Amino acid sequence: MNKIPFGPTYDEMAFPSHIDPEIRKKALAGKSDELDPINLFNINWKDEKNQVHKIILPKEMTGVECNIVVLLGKYFPSGSHKVGPAYSTLIEGCVDQTIIPGEHTILGPSTGNFGIGVSYICNLMKYDSIVIMPDNMSKERYQRIKKYGAKLDLTPGTESDVILTLERTFELKKNPKNRSLAQFELLPNYRFHRHVTGNACIEAVKGIGNGRIACFASAPGSAGTLAAGDHIKKIFPEVKIAALEPYECSTLMNSGRGQHRIEGIGDKMCTLIHNILNTDFIALIKDEESVQGLKIIHDGINILVENGVQKDVANNMRELFGVSGICNIIGAIKMAKYLKLGPEDNVVTIATDGFDRYETVLEDLKKRYLETEDFVLRRWFRDVFHKTSIDDIADYRPMSQKEKLFIQKEKDWLKFGYQQAYLDEMKNMDFWDSEYEKIFHYDELIKKLR
Ligand SMILES: Cc1ncc(COP(=O)(O)O)c(C=O)c1O
Repeated sequence: MNKIPFGPTYDEMAFPSHIDPEIRKKALAGKSDELDPINLFNINWKDEKNQVHKIILPKEMTGVECNIVVLLGKYFPSGSHKVGPAYSTLIEGCVDQTIIPGEHTILGPSTGNFGIGVSYICNLMKYDSIVIMPDNMSKERYQRIKKYGAKLDLTPGTESDVILTLERTFELKKNPKNRSLAQFELLPNYRFHRHVTGNACIEAVKGIGNGRIACFASAPGSAGTLAAGDHIKKIFPEVKIAALEPYECSTLMNSGRGQHRIEGIGDKMCTLIHNILNTDFIALIKDEESVQGLKIIHDGINILVENGVQKDVANNMRELFGVSGICNIIGAIKMAKYLKLGPEDNVVTIATDGFDRYETVLEDLKKRYLETEDFVLRRWFRDVFHKTSIDDIADYRPMSQKEKLFIQKEKDWLKFGYQQAYLDEMKNMDFWDSEYEKIFHYDELIKKLR
């Protein structure tokens, strides 16, 4: 078999302390040059001391008694955790010898961060790449993709029109030179998050409250991140997994269509890799509140301090979140209230990326509201964080509810050539467990071939 590019195993991404110490040292030093391929070994949630990058939100901000722990994706190479699924999908293709350097061009259908991840990984692993994405996302996204050397193939619309990117990818795939890293349908995305993000969540709550996880809340785009919940449930069976959707167009709860402002989530489908069996609740979050929340955290330090948040904590939070991160925080607060969680309980959620790609979103907010002075932010702070309601939460534990999601998945995927029998297999947890077990097979091969 041919050699494959030199990169980490799933185990090394989950536990970077298992990386050969010399390579780990070089990788940490290589952070100063993000295009050095050694950075593949920085695809993990940990800092140089092997601690998960996270923040425990100040209770003065959340207004709830339980601990809300947010994992911080901005420290991944390329600035978001989406680089993990991009790498995992590419390396599995290399191992399977279906993706050959110099021969194949990589397609990345995306609304942004996955595209950034794909272009970055392809730069490091020496593949040509094309990112297929809507033409109306935040400008910062296109700049990054171009910087990493991918071509852009733009389809009309925004987050809500992601289906057009899938249709375009379906067309491009007819060229035998092209290989798609199809995040919505390929299981390396599931494997990465179940193993790597799932283990990071477990480690992140050690020593906090009762050290367990009562709720995991995450807004699905591809629903890869939600797969962390499958691992958490194996360790803490009591955990409730909440999928968060934009209130303006909830597809899972209401088959909704339309536009919303939370980039990266609410992609108008039940993705193929979404394990419906483990979705316990769906909760709806208003997009405008997510953008207002970002404005408060980025520009409203005074308001946070007035409300009792320590100044250094408030300053430290400024750059940590994007819009979907705030949506996840609001969702975590909502679920904490709904589940009546107390001081010993932990809710875990995720900030996929940081503020660096949302400057233009706040410029747009200013244009729309005209007034964003402190007296406005003061009101927003109360409404967005402290007054978060427990409205718009639905219990998806009953099978009758899950049936609705199975039907949605069929509507979304049979048209792309998937068979009913395959979708039926996904109604059994054995399917997901056996897909997960494949990480051991891939890890063996990566070690042997790299
Ligand atoms: C900013 C942002 N938030 C959330 C998500 C959703 O993550 P996932 O695709 O793992 O569901 C994405 C996905 O691209 C994203 O870019």
